Amino acid sequence: MLTSLWEGRRAPAAELPSPLVPAATAHHQVVVVGGGLTGLTTALLLARAGRSVMVVEARHLGAGTTGRSTAKVSLLQGTQLSRIRRTHGTSTLRSYVDANRDAQEWIAAFAEEAGIVVERRAATTYANEASGTRLVRRELAAARAAGLPATWVDDVGLPFPTAGAVRLDDQLQLDPLALVEELAEACRVLGVVVVEGWHVRRVHGHDPVRLDVSPDGADDARHRAELTADRVVLATNTPVLDRGGFFARLSAQRSYSIAFHTPGPVVDGMHLSADAPSRSLRDAPAEDGGRVLLVGGEGHATGRSRPTSEHLDTLRAWTADHFPEARETHAWSAQDYSPHHALPYAGALVPGRDDLLVAGGFSKWGMTGGVAAALSIAGTLAGTAPRWSTAMRSWGPRELAGLPKAALLNTEVAVALGSGWVRPLLPGRCSEPEATVAYDGTRPPSASCGVGGVEQRVSAVCSHLGGVVAWNDAERSWDCPLHGSRFRPDGEVLDGPATRPLAPR
Ligand SMILES: Cc1cc2nc3c(=O)[nH]c(=O)nc-3n(C[C@H](O)[C@H](O)[C@H](O)COP(=O)(O)OP(=O)(O)OC[C@H]3O[C@@H](n4cnc5c(N)ncnc54)[C@H](O)[C@@H]3O)c2cc1C
Ligand code: FES
Repeated sequence: MLTSLWEGRRAPAAELPSPLVPAATAHHQVVVVGGGLTGLTTALLLARAGRSVMVVEARHLGAGTTGRSTAKVSLLQGTQLSRIRRTHGTSTLRSYVDANRDAQEWIAAFAEEAGIVVERRAATTYANEASGTRLVRRELAAARAAGLPATWVDDVGLPFPTAGAVRLDDQLQLDPLALVEELAEACRVLGVVVVEGWHVRRVHGHDPVRLDVSPDGADDARHRAELTADRVVLATNTPVLDRGGFFARLSAQRSYSIAFHTPGPVVDGMHLSADAPSRSLRDAPAEDGGRVLLVGGEGHATGRSRPTSEHLDTLRAWTADHFPEARETHAWSAQDYSPHHALPYAGALVPGRDDLLVAGGFSKWGMTGGVAAALSIAGTLAGTAPRWSTAMRSWGPRELAGLPKAALLNTEVAVALGSGWVRPLLPGRCSEPEATVAYDGTRPPSASCGVGGVEQRVSAVCSHLGGVVAWNDAERSWDCPLHGSRFRPDGEVLDGPATRPLAPR
């Protein structure tokens, strides 16, 4: 696994899994699955409201997208506002912006209380070419319609030509793992039980809800345990339960980031392009007092672009052209999930059941979206749901607004399913220097790789719904092109919706 800038600044995490202490197997009012920003904020809010809460995290806290985020805490979000306005209208857009504003204010207040360094910057969405200006103008109109004091600027001050930008002053940037650490500490102070290194494999039953868990790397009968709760909140970015069919409403995207040490300030602001090539830029404090430049981009559907390492090389070449003094320190990739109708969700997994809740679908804007989802869920359970909560409902008429996009997404999934099973039959199509997908006689294909001198062979058939995985040479993982599940070379799950490892061979 590649290491993000934020992960690289911390001591290696403790050995996992942590043992299931008796407090973990006791019944809880709420079990939150997922120890990222969304899960920890939900847990903290519920604990503050007096509930007994447990967080179960499959790996380390922050090991998912949160610890690999660019962590702009911004109300200007690329072209997200115009996308929402076009699909759902101005009133829903205002609710979305209100939700994000409340979340941003919550983060600012929590960070101040916890002593987390937060830097204020202008955010921009810029056009690379004159043809992109239309997108930026549309974003400006949407931002203003939502009541944001956004302005037009001809020159954003970047060291390459641009064709105008929308700008919103006074937004925030921070180190997302600092937020995770302080949220976890605040949770523990209030008695929240936090368990790391345990995967939730299945959730079943009702009153209480039962969660089958097993340790990372050991999903066998000997190691399994059961947890119980009145309610379960799935804060796993994409829901790890198929009930509700969220996997078919979301597209999983991987994108890439590189951190560069620079001798002095390089970018003044948090920037994101509206048109191709998609580039995200921000700076951060360096540990030696200089500045770090973060460059992101090169997003693609998970499991459908090979070799993935070329995306990092493209970012490197682009940065060398525009920031020749920058020296690379960390390179990594991360995953987020975009719903077909652009709005994130927080609410019931299936209609009519308030004991199974989900939060996710943040379209790469979960720093505020995840906290808004937590505020919505905690508020709803306390009977004080924020007014804007309707914009994040997990079920409702807004699903219809995204139906054409959903149909397209699922056609692409069907094509990926078919080609995944056929490709290993074509000579050379699934063979890379360190990994191969091949048929074993009459059996379904297997996935073999040699990483660090260790040969490992597992089934190539995704444990979710039967997609055939593809090698990700940048992260050294097996990635499913259908709904974005990812697996380590030994088969253990890295990203959902899968919960079970690839079968051993
Ligand atoms: C490249 C990139 C850049 C981004 N930059 C920004 C940005 O600048 N601003 C912004 O607002 N947003 C940004 N985002 C999005 C934002 O980082 C995410 O939306 C947000 O971090 C999601 O937080 P989360 O807690 O919901 O999910 P995660 O952080 O992914 O947490 C989910 C957790 O659930 C755990 N889990 C999963 N399955 C199980 C299971 N079965 N059992 C137990 N635990 C499980 C995972 O291990 C993980 O730790 C970016 C995303 C990407 C990909
Ligand atoms: S993620 Fe759904 S089949 Fe692999």
